[in-house]
Amino acid sequence: MEFKSVGIKGLGYYVPEKVMTNFDFEKILDTTDEWIRTMTGVEERRYAAPEQATSDLCVEAAKKALADANMTAEDLDMIIVATVTPDYITQSTACLVQNKLGVKQIPCFDVNAACSGFMYALTIAGSMVRGGVYKNILVLGGEVLSRIVDMENRSNCILFGDGAAAAIVSEVEDGYGMLSTHLGAEGEDDMILKIPAGGSKKPNDAETIANKENFLVMKGHDVFKFAVHALPLATNKALKIANVKAEELKMIFPHQANVRIIESAAKRIHVPMEKFYLNLNKYGNTSAASIGLALGEAKEKGLIQKGDLIALTGFGGGLTYGSIIMKWAY
Ligand SMILES: CC(C)(COP(=O)(O)OP(=O)(O)OC[C@H]1O[C@@H](n2cnc3c(N)ncnc32)[C@H](O)[C@@H]1OP(=O)(O)O)[C@@H](O)C(=O)NCCC(=O)NCCS
Repeated sequence: MEFKSVGIKGLGYYVPEKVMTNFDFEKILDTTDEWIRTMTGVEERRYAAPEQATSDLCVEAAKKALADANMTAEDLDMIIVATVTPDYITQSTACLVQNKLGVKQIPCFDVNAACSGFMYALTIAGSMVRGGVYKNILVLGGEVLSRIVDMENRSNCILFGDGAAAAIVSEVEDGYGMLSTHLGAEGEDDMILKIPAGGSKKPNDAETIANKENFLVMKGHDVFKFAVHALPLATNKALKIANVKAEELKMIFPHQANVRIIESAAKRIHVPMEKFYLNLNKYGNTSAASIGLALGEAKEKGLIQKGDLIALTGFGGGLTYGSIIMKWAY
């Protein structure tokens, strides 16, 4: 059986206007710009305006991706949003995006794979299009992480920012698009990266709020250790499935969590740092938005052209990881 070639036909991204710099953190926390830059590579991040929720950021990114693909919202037949900061626990943020775009009667759902969410959602969309029932799927990674971080926790809040990225997944020219995908998870329930309260296990009450269990908790060392093993693992497996050598890659778009994690991954994949696209200095870690935000920015700058071999690779809460190898299709 011949498989369709499926890939990205349009990209868009959106970041809110408000810039929160390391120097702004110096004013409210016992920290320094130098510590944050040296330990993470982050210099500033964007924060959503009070009236903006994740769906609002997603809609802006979606409009740009539709324009980039020369499509209108009417051309879409599915919307998938990867996020850990949905507007509501239910209904899905994808349904809210659908409503705001004014598209009717198409399936819409969210994916929770934390910072690997864009990898998971692209893979699902790719399979759906390859299956033949759906033609043009809007994939979004969007987050307003500034609402789930404890602004008094200096080793945590300085890492994260808000943003959204969008991709239109469709059939592409034969031999182009997604050549392989490798997803995985190492599930844990050990407070490595989670919001302890607000779900069915521990609904929020006065005590959880007083204990700040409504905010993201993270064991930074454990996440770091996982990341430096998961990034190369996911990338190497996806490369092997695609039968592509690391040196053939034009660029790698890693999850923008910490420059030291990316440097360690670069050594293990044997790819020079210059091939890793980085914008975490400007946006911090935007979780499910991060890889798409990097890809969208690089495309806008003309850094990727039709036929280029690229890798997208991420890791995150769950713990999860995922990597996709693409031959860029437009
Ligand atoms: C968060 C991270 C930068 C912290 O670095 P680390 O080397 O683990 O640092 P530690 O937490 O051990 O802290 C080292 C010291 O710096 C201090 N510190 C932490 N945050 C600080 C800050 N913003 N400013 C100044 N000092 C800080 C700590 O209090 C500690 O001080 P102590 O030695 O006096 O106790 C690092 O663990 C990390 O990046 N982990 C991965 C996180 C991540 O990517 N999460 C998202 C995954 S999708």
